[in-house]
Formats: sequence, structure tokens, C-alpha cells
Amino acid sequence: MEQRTLGGQGLVVSAEGLGCMGMSAFYGAHDDAESTATIRRALDLGITFFDTADVYGPWTNERLVGTALADRRDDVVVATKFGNEIDENGARTGRVNGSPDYLRKAVDASLDRLGIDVIDLYYQHRVDPNVPVEDTFGALGELVQAGKVRHLGISEASAASIRRAHAAAPLTAVQTEYSLFTRDVEDNEVLATVRELGIGFVPYSPLGRGFLSGRIRSVEDFAEDDFRRTSPRFQGENFTKNLDLLDRVVAIADEKGVTPSQLALAWVLAQGDDVVPIPGTRRIANLEENVSAVEVALTDEDLARIDEVAPSGSVAGERYAPQGMASLNH
Ligand SMILES: NC(=O)c1ccc[n+]([C@@H]2O[C@H](COP(=O)([O-])OP(=O)(O)OC[C@H]3O[C@@H](n4cnc5c(N)ncnc54)[C@H](OP(=O)(O)O)[C@@H]3O)[C@@H](O)[C@H]2O)c1
Repeated sequence: MEQRTLGGQGLVVSAEGLGCMGMSAFYGAHDDAESTATIRRALDLGITFFDTADVYGPWTNERLVGTALADRRDDVVVATKFGNEIDENGARTGRVNGSPDYLRKAVDASLDRLGIDVIDLYYQHRVDPNVPVEDTFGALGELVQAGKVRHLGISEASAASIRRAHAAAPLTAVQTEYSLFTRDVEDNEVLATVRELGIGFVPYSPLGRGFLSGRIRSVEDFAEDDFRRTSPRFQGENFTKNLDLLDRVVAIADEKGVTPSQLALAWVLAQGDDVVPIPGTRRIANLEENVSAVEVALTDEDLARIDEVAPSGSVAGERYAPQGMASLNH
């Protein structure tokens, strides 16, 4: 597996990581035994970069990931996140909390659930509008000094917040949604800023939350409790318009003899050596398909054609319902 380096402090990871969120949350039914087998297969295939968060479950995903990786601790990079506030009973409050007091407790709890003594990459999951990012990253920098965390990251932050956080404590990675279905970071200065500052970029939902696989054709393909039912993109006319866009992407994949998921991942991987996508799956077959995308070479002509059929801004509907959109840092 190709290796890539995130940021200026030498964090080396496999070119593709594994997103573990859906193994415990948001996308309907899940099975711990199947998820564990998927993580173990990812290790066999050379994946060394695993993405979780305290809020996935909450708490259960960190336990699952920590247990599945336990005997390979020294071979892997474990990334987790804090800040989507969880109360002492393990329930999401719906608020964001970036206060030093909160994060000092959160890091100890994540270390405990993951069963490790240092977190390789620790992200602020969302920027807290009520706590200056300098205060949050000042406290995170102290965690690095204390040896509880190796590298720092931030998720869904504006270019201005990225700059401020990086000045307070150096960032290794920025994680934000990025795919053929969500190209905002190309237009809102986020990608340009991480490149200027030498920070790595980790696209989440690089398969457009599964849509770019071509296997989701209707809202009825989602379980009753699947979060995607609330996404404006998967509703009514938006869904119909987005299927048109998808069909054009699928046609290019067919011509190249790859699956739509592989084309979508190869496109993200082709955006630069500083980019490490973390597609999510609970299933070995999908994992194997996604890992093969690392071998798919796209020519300049392929990239130009993809740009033509799925240009930035061509997707219909916001990616989150209003409450989720409000938690993004613009
Ligand atoms: N920082 C943040 O705020 C944030 C937000 C969202 C996600 N994330 C992270 O990013 C990771 C990836 O994002 P994501 O899981 O939201 O979206 P994604 O990677 O774009 O898509 C995942 C979905 O696609 C399906 N899938 C995966 N490979 C497939 C294939 N080859 N064929 C058909 N379907 C396939 C998965 O279903 P199966 O499980 O059935 O394969 C799942 O429903 C998450 O796991 C999480 O770690 C971070």
C-alpha cells in the first residue's frame, strides 16, 4: 500500500484510511463481529490509518476500534475526535464544547476506551463558537507536551480558524467532507490554506456517504433510523437531480472498467499526495473494492472529463439538515 505523509511533523499513513463511524452509528444496523473482521482485513491489506470519534455510538465505536486493533497497536495510527458534547450518561447534548476543562476529561476517557496510552491524531470535531480556538488549541498543545496525544487536527473548520489553531499549536491534519459530491473546500479557501500551511488533508465521506457507489437509488434504500434520510441531498427533487449527476459519473467508471466507488476514491486520491481519504465501510467486500482504488490511475483527460460531469457546486441540496449546517464553521 502506498504511504502518504500528513503535515509537517512526519505522520506517515497508508494512502487510504478506514472510517469506522458506520460500524457503530448513523447508517442503520451494524454488527460488531462483521465490523471487527473488516478492521482485521484492512490491516491485512496494508491500511494503517483508522478513524473514530468519542461521539460515534457515543463511546461504543472507540471501544470496538480499540479492541480490534489491540494486538497491532504499534503498526497503526489511531485518530479520534472530541467536542460534539456528550454528557456523563453517554448521551449527545447537541452542543459543541471546546473548553479546556471539557477536552482534558475527554482525552482521558478516549484513551481509556481505546485501551491505548497515547492518541496518534486528536481532532477537534467541530469548532465551538463560544470558546476561542486559541484556548482550545492551547490546551491541546499541553496534551501533546504531556504525551497523551502525538498530533493535532481540526474538523470542519473555516480557513480563518485553521490559521488561528495552527498558530496556537501546529496542526497535522484538517478533516472535512470532500468528494465528487462535496467540493466546497476547493472554493472556500480551506484546501488552499492547508497547502499554504503544510497541513495534511483528510477527506471524510469520500464516497458521498455511499451515494457515489451507485448502489443507493432511492431514500427507501436507507434504514428507518439512517441519518441520511435527514440530508436534503437525499430528498425529493434534489435526489432526482443528484441521480442524474451520479449516472454521468457511473458512465465514466464503466468506460474505465472500474466501479463507481473506485472512480470516486481515485479522484480524491488524485488531488495530491497530501490527501488521505477515509472511506467508511462495515463490510469486507466493500473494503476490498475501496482499497483497490489506490491502484486506479486517472489520466489528465479522465480528470478533465470528471470535472466536466461533476463540477464544483453541481450537487443539489445541502449536505446536512439545518442544525448540522449550523454546526459547521464558516
Ligand atoms: N469529521 C466529521 O465530522 C465526519 C463526518 C462523517 C464521517 N466522518 C468519518 O469519515 C468516515 C467516512 O465517511 P462516511 O462513512 O460518512 O461516508 P463514505 O465513506 O462516503 O460512505 C460510507 C457509506 O458507503 C457505503 N460503502 C462503502 N464502500 C462501498 C462500496 N464499495 N460499495 C457500496 N457501498 C459502499 C458504506 O456502507 P457499508 O458499511 O454497508 O459498506 C456506508 O454506508 C466515517 O467512517 C468517519 O470516520 C467524519
